[in-house]
Amino acid sequence: MALVLHVVGARPNFMKVAPLMAALSRRGAAQRLVHTGQHFDERMSGVFFAELGLPRPDLDLGVGSGTHGEQTGRVMIAFERALLEAAPRPDLVVVPGDVNSTVAAALVAAKLGIPVAHLEAGLRSHDRTMPEELNRVVTDHLADLLLTPSPDADENLAREGVPAARVARVGNLMIDTLRAHLPRARALSAWRYLGLEEGGYAVLTLHRPSNVDDPAALGRLLGALAEVARALPVVFPVHPRTRARLADPALAGAAAALRLVEPLGYLEFLSLTSAARLVLTDSGGLQEESTALGVPCLTLRENTERPVTVSEGTNHVVGTDPGRIVAEARRALDGAPGRGRVPALWDGQAGERAADAVLAFLARA
Ligand code: UD1
Repeated sequence: MALVLHVVGARPNFMKVAPLMAALSRRGAAQRLVHTGQHFDERMSGVFFAELGLPRPDLDLGVGSGTHGEQTGRVMIAFERALLEAAPRPDLVVVPGDVNSTVAAALVAAKLGIPVAHLEAGLRSHDRTMPEELNRVVTDHLADLLLTPSPDADENLAREGVPAARVARVGNLMIDTLRAHLPRARALSAWRYLGLEEGGYAVLTLHRPSNVDDPAALGRLLGALAEVARALPVVFPVHPRTRARLADPALAGAAAALRLVEPLGYLEFLSLTSAARLVLTDSGGLQEESTALGVPCLTLRENTERPVTVSEGTNHVVGTDPGRIVAEARRALDGAPGRGRVPALWDGQAGERAADAVLAFLARA
């Protein structure tokens, strides 16, 4: 029987792989799971395995943090060794998303002649200053099977010359996970134990290097967000990268206007966003989750690799100019609470379609 090996590394990978692993398991497929250890904190990794019902990884490469070269290199060295020692050798390596672990694992597998499937293939911000964009482009061109979430992704791949026979549009796996867990998340009422009212607060996340690594840029953003916080409480679960930057005393004043909390688990965070009046974020996944939930979202970036969240969903890409952020937040708060349409194939069945595509690929191989 063919063996499928999934490689995850960072927080947003876990909710993408879970529905595919579950669907393959229902079909009796043989599977293994490798965690690269890019994210290692309980709050960034462990809690997601428990809540999403992911199996314990068969192997943890324990690579941890570092510069891009160090982190990517460490995944490559450790994953190559693991594949060379693997018995049996996997017939397919599945990599989700666009993090350093994704591209590193794809490159190792491809060089060993093991076919690669890319989950969430074809997304493009068309901004090569973004590390994830480089990871996406390289991974897509290494992959033998490209599982895409939306028509724009198929178009990007066609434009780059990726043969259509390699591409299968399966829909949004992250939204499978959201739909499966929403009732439990709602039942938690996480807003209550933060002393907030349903629909009466905003949720903020910030972790992109372009927004948080430069203290001046982060200071400008926090100033605008403190202004938004005059209109309604802004809850800010702080990513470890951002937490390190907030230690700068120059940022303390603006940060004090926000409700800073530790990174939350999947269910608590979903609970919180599901009842938010507004989401402010530079995350990719949260743009999609707010569209699926019908919660207005302001994306604090100059571009998005997820354009259907803008054309169909609740997302507005507003950039990082403080005046614009404040004005757009006011407009969102003055408008009707939720709107937008959930894009096609964000229906909770993407994992099933991805499993079908994987098994069809293995049958052909
Ligand atoms: C990575 C991904 C990004 C994704 C994000 C989700 C890349 C290039 N970036 O960014 O696409 O949106 O994950 O969170 O792969 N740290 C901890 N504990 C952890 C993990 C990280 O303390 O469990 C700290 C370390 O100080 C580390 C920093 O966070 O240096 C950044 O971690 P890293 O994995 O390098 O990148 P992210 O910013 O998390």
